[in-house]
Order: sequence, then structure tokens, then C-alpha cells
Amino acid sequence: MQFEIAVLPGDGIGPDVITEGIKVLEAIGKRFNHSFNLHEGLVGGAAIDAEGTALSDATIKMCRQADAVLLGAVGGPKWDDPLAKVHPEDGLLKLRGELGLFANLRPVKVSPMLVDSTNLKPEVIRGADFIFVRELTGGLYFAQPKKRWETAKGRMATDSMTYSEQEIERIVRVGFELARLRRKKLTSVDKANVLESSRLWRQVAMEVAKEYPDVALDHMLVDACSMRLIQNPTYFDVLVTENMFGDILTDEASMLAGSMGMLPSASLAGVPKEGVRIFGMYEPIHGSAPRRAGLDMANPIAIILSVAMMLRYSLGLDKEASVIEKAVDDVLSQGYRTYDIMAEGKTKVGTAEMGDLIAKKVKG
Ligand code: IPM
Ligand code: MG
Repeated sequence: MQFEIAVLPGDGIGPDVITEGIKVLEAIGKRFNHSFNLHEGLVGGAAIDAEGTALSDATIKMCRQADAVLLGAVGGPKWDDPLAKVHPEDGLLKLRGELGLFANLRPVKVSPMLVDSTNLKPEVIRGADFIFVRELTGGLYFAQPKKRWETAKGRMATDSMTYSEQEIERIVRVGFELARLRRKKLTSVDKANVLESSRLWRQVAMEVAKEYPDVALDHMLVDACSMRLIQNPTYFDVLVTENMFGDILTDEASMLAGSMGMLPSASLAGVPKEGVRIFGMYEPIHGSAPRRAGLDMANPIAIILSVAMMLRYSLGLDKEASVIEKAVDDVLSQGYRTYDIMAEGKTKVGTAEMGDLIAKKVKG
């Protein structure tokens, strides 16, 4: 089969890891006889420098015409001035908003091979395997108004958390659908003891639950959830939450997997169901890590697993996705590690070598 893929390397280690993601994608193409036509564009700081905007209209158009978008990372100190008119992150938010990517899937699976390379006790994290469903196009991130102003008493600023019942319903539904394909347990995370938007969230979640009697729904306050994630992570199967809570909790959860460099993500424009191809954007959850850029250090596994998610959700290539996931497991079990997951007695490799090793396994 033939597919069109928009590729946005972005900033920092984004380009470093994208190269490895593509390497593995091409290995899949060779083995399974697919062709992936790649269309490269700029986003983030790279786009600000070259085009004066964090995401040009031409790049958005290119993404819309593709079957899926593969993104590296955006941001860096060069563009961090809080007074700057445009920030690299604006490009990412524009992509999410304009492409309607409301459902952000962030799976966290503790690899048995890495259970000893984290800061947490192996007996606590062993077996943890859950997936976050983060709402991605609403809440504080897309607040209206979002502004600063001056008053006689000093400066003020606002971002408010607003959700419509439609926005809540469609994301909660993603949670239920995924739970149905897994262990049939959904935890909806909110702050309903304080926030009105969370009370609506909880109410809508309970209403949607009536359509999914086979899935057990529970509700957890976001502060309690942050605690439970490190206290008893095997408790969770699928979690669904609003944008900002999801941003914070998924960084925390990434530590269970040993490193942010291990975690992929999918941002989808629809509800994932078996046998349905959904437009989506795929990116590692780690950021641009500017200090590591260009040093052949970054762990490419997050982007490589993001490529697997792309094959599964947007291209309908489930078998091919599993081949990548297995290749990653195999390379880890042979003892190869990038610096972030390095442990005694293991073999340290750089970005490109890790990509080569995984691509070679994929080729079979
Ligand atoms: C993420 C990142 C982004 C976010 C940043 C880079 C805007 O932290 O994808 O989690 O806050 O959503
Ligand atoms: Mg984040």
C-alpha cells in the first residue's frame, strides 16, 4: 500500500529522533512492501526562524493532505522569552487545534527489562500497563480570553478552564472504547470537589457510562491520582482527563517507564475503533531537550513507538505496528541502552545505533 506522511522534525532532539523513526518506517516498508511518501515541513522554533511563524498555512495544508503526521519536538531556550510575540509551542497547539486532534493517547507500559532502571521500587511498578487519554483541544490551553492586562494595582493575566458537554462526551467516549479493548476499567480524573468544569465532566462521564455497562468506571480527583500513580500504578487500566491535568500527570507517569524517552503518543481526530483508520499526529512525549541536540544521545524509542502507533491507528497496519513493538523489546532484552536508561552491565549506544538495531530487527 501507499501512504502520505507529513514529517515535522521541529527543534532540539526532534530532528535527531525523527531520523530514527523514519529509518524504522522504511524498514517496515521494505519488509511489507508499503511505500511511505514523506513530506517534510517546519514547526516550532525552526519555523519561527525560517518563516516568521511557528506553523505556516502551507505546512498545515500539507498535514491535512497527509494520512498522518509524524512530529519530533518543539521549543528551546532561544525562543523562550516570555515577552516574545510567538513561541514554538504555538505551532504545536495550532496543529492540535486546526487538525481537530482532540484525543491524546499516551500509553505507559513498564518494560520488564527496565523495571530496575527507574527511581521507583521494582515491586511497585512491575506490571504497570495503562493508557492515558488526555483531552487535547480544550481547557486552559485553548482558553478564551487568554490575555494579560494592566490595572491600577498592577498586572493581571487570565486563562480559564472551559468545557462543553460535547467536548467532554467525545473524549470520555474514547476512554470507554479503549477500555473495551483492554481490561475494561476506566478512571475519569477531575477536580470535582472544587471546579465547576470538573463537576460537568464527572456528570457527563456518568451519563456516557450508561452506554458501556461492560466497562467499570471510577472517578478520581487529580491530586489523589498523582499520588496513586506512584503508590500503586498497577491499579490503572485507562485514564481519561482534561488537557492540563493530562499534561502534568503524563510527565509524572513517564517516570514509571524509566525515562520520558520511552513514551510515544498519538493525537487523534476521532474515536479509535477496531478496523477504522483515523487521522492523527504522532510524537514522543519528551520535549526538545536542547542540551542534548545533535549529540547522538537522545533515546529514539519514543518516536519509534510513535511510528508503531501511527501504523496502528492511522494506517490500519496493526501487524506491522506489533513488529516494531517486538523489535524494541528484543533490542532492549539484548541489553542495548541509550544513556537515559543505561544500567550496570548493559551496552550503551547512541541515537543512531539504537535506530539501526531496531530497524534491523524489523527487517527480520
Ligand atoms: C506535551 C508538551 C506540550 C503540552 C508543550 C510542548 C506545549 O508538554 O505534549 O505534553 O504542554 O501539551
Ligand atoms: Mg507535557
